[in-house]
Amino acid sequence: MLFSMLLTGCLSSEARRKDAGEQDVYELYIACDSQEDTVTGIFMNEYARLLEEKSNGRIKVNRYPNSQLGSDAEITEAVQNGNITFVVQTTAPQVAFVPEAAIFDAPMAFKNLDVARKVLDGPLSEKLKGYYEAKNLRLLGYADQGFRVMTANQDIQSLADLKGIKIRTMENSNHIQLWKDVGSNPTPMAWSEVYIGLQQKAIDAQENPVETIVAAKVYEQQDYLINTNHILHTLSLIGSPAVIDDLPEDLQQSVYDAADEAKVIARNATDERAAGRVQIVVDSGTTVSPFNEALFNEMKAASAGVWDTLESQIGSELVDLLRSEIDKAEKE
Ligand code: MLT
Repeated sequence: MLFSMLLTGCLSSEARRKDAGEQDVYELYIACDSQEDTVTGIFMNEYARLLEEKSNGRIKVNRYPNSQLGSDAEITEAVQNGNITFVVQTTAPQVAFVPEAAIFDAPMAFKNLDVARKVLDGPLSEKLKGYYEAKNLRLLGYADQGFRVMTANQDIQSLADLKGIKIRTMENSNHIQLWKDVGSNPTPMAWSEVYIGLQQKAIDAQENPVETIVAAKVYEQQDYLINTNHILHTLSLIGSPAVIDDLPEDLQQSVYDAADEAKVIARNATDERAAGRVQIVVDSGTTVSPFNEALFNEMKAASAGVWDTLESQIGSELVDLLRSEIDKAEKE
């Protein structure tokens, strides 16, 4: 019901209401497909809180976590047409809207989060802003939810262990290619079907950040969590250019300032919560395999072709920029 109201524009943020003092109050909408008790949910809530605070009561942000307004793709489409004002989501489902967002599908790209965050804060993101804008989306900032890791019912210590494993992936061709290239059997599936898919043995494994694995209790169906760190789980905050540009100038500034602050809060939350999330998995009886550099390097070599695919999809300029930004960040 709520979702169809958004699709038909009934909740459009162009609607304004007056408060008792006859001050214009702008009603905006933010959504994500993740549970609230994840860094994605924290990013969403903190952004809404900061924006309301900075507006001194002139903005009210209605919050919809947990796919209440639809899947990632549906929410992004609603942001494009201005019916939802903001979305917090990873970049993988955005590739259907902004092909250049695929740059973050590059596998085994970052040695650690420090390198990844330096790259996210550099010229690559500035360049990407233009690609989002061209697709009627405004990139307000990137944070992260750590790296994506794998869960399975057997330990994975080498490429040989990955052979034939039926692993659920997102509907993203580069993710699918990565898992094919390392010898497994990727099975794209909606996130909402993953728990039951594991329970019914339709899939053997899945990959997500630990935050998401804990929020969805995936560990109940898996014996091992393997710290593969294969792809950064970026978190992007995207807004509707039409709605933002329609706000008074001082409130537009609040939109950007709140984004800068919320991004830092989200990153800190990722770091502060990491050990506790892993402990929940350990306490459940699931074995956590530490990061294995030899496995990482084997997967990196096997999936090098994904980088070539990216060049053909989005051009070598962006891919070269990613490579040079990684080099620079590793030397800092
Ligand atoms: C997925 O694997 O579909 C996503 O990582 C889930 C999420 O964004 O919470």
